Amino acid sequence: MRLDLKMPGKIIFEEGCLSELENCAARLTDNIFIVVSRTLLREGKLDGVLAGLKQKNIKYTVFDGVTGEPSPQMVDEAVNMARAAGCGAVAGVGGGSVLDLAKCAAALINNEGGVECYLELTDSPRKLEKEVVPFIAVPTTAGTGSEATKNAVVSSVVKGYKKSLRSEKMMACAALVDPELTYGLPREITARTGMDAITQIIESYTSKKATPITRALSIDAASNFGCLLKAWEEDEHAARKGMCYLSLISGIALANGGLGAAHGIAAGLGALYNVPHGEACAMLLPHVMRLNIGLCQEDYDRLAFKATGYKSAQALIDYVEEMNNKMGIRSRLGYLNIGDIDALSRASMGSSMSGNRVPLNIESCAEFIKGII
Ligand SMILES: [Fe+2]
Repeated sequence: MRLDLKMPGKIIFEEGCLSELENCAARLTDNIFIVVSRTLLREGKLDGVLAGLKQKNIKYTVFDGVTGEPSPQMVDEAVNMARAAGCGAVAGVGGGSVLDLAKCAAALINNEGGVECYLELTDSPRKLEKEVVPFIAVPTTAGTGSEATKNAVVSSVVKGYKKSLRSEKMMACAALVDPELTYGLPREITARTGMDAITQIIESYTSKKATPITRALSIDAASNFGCLLKAWEEDEHAARKGMCYLSLISGIALANGGLGAAHGIAAGLGALYNVPHGEACAMLLPHVMRLNIGLCQEDYDRLAFKATGYKSAQALIDYVEEMNNKMGIRSRLGYLNIGDIDALSRASMGSSMSGNRVPLNIESCAEFIKGII
């Protein structure tokens, strides 16, 4: 058995640890590129860090142009800015899209050309031959786990794709997980990102590529599933913290153990129908669990026991459906008026799909999609 575990070089998980960003940066560079969500910047949440960098004579360039999932144009604009400023490290402070864009910038500052020629699932994608500059990840939502993954998702609505820039070199050198940054997050974002994290835990635990280490991490984190409703209903701070932990662990588990069909089809729905990632995962998860139940009964039983106290796969499916229902997430795909099911199925065959326990090809996946419309 071969084990090969990759995770951020350093992980700090603590309320208020955003303040450590300036010290982290100082150890790496005297010129940093900071990708930050516009809301956070407007709210002044980065003021202390920027003042600290100034005090330490660290130059910084701020990019706050991330709107929705990173498009190739958005990535190239940021990369050109970072190249022009001669930055030697990158920090991302924001949700999954901000972190993904920041990760691309770190990867491409020294590697010529636009992001599209490096994306997987394209004809002979280029490799990141030159040095990837150090990347610090500071998540401000609890869901994608992007702070602990080695890929960044790039979406083109115009060309109808959602592909990853992926390399082991892209793992963050430091992840600062500060639950305070998630306090007061809007309910809709809490619901979507939280269901993404839950889907990542369930799919990484049952993935064909799971390892004993990723499974140990995933099953332990499943006891935090209940934090989502408390975070969503009451913005309870302990629950927010629990969700941040769940998200971090889901990122480590998926980066090292793969995912499944919910993430596979979510990629297709995002690329072709612009469905937000977490919402797509949440809608698909119960259906994918029913599809896999024959091969995953015991795994679902164990996850169910951790999450609900009942050792029953069906209890876990019911639990997920109840959460979706409460948070107003749809249960079927009918509202999308999907015209070309084969095209959606083709767009769902990315790397996540290869981890699904029940193997799905373009034909069987199309049949499955038909059944959940
Ligand atoms: Fe995800």
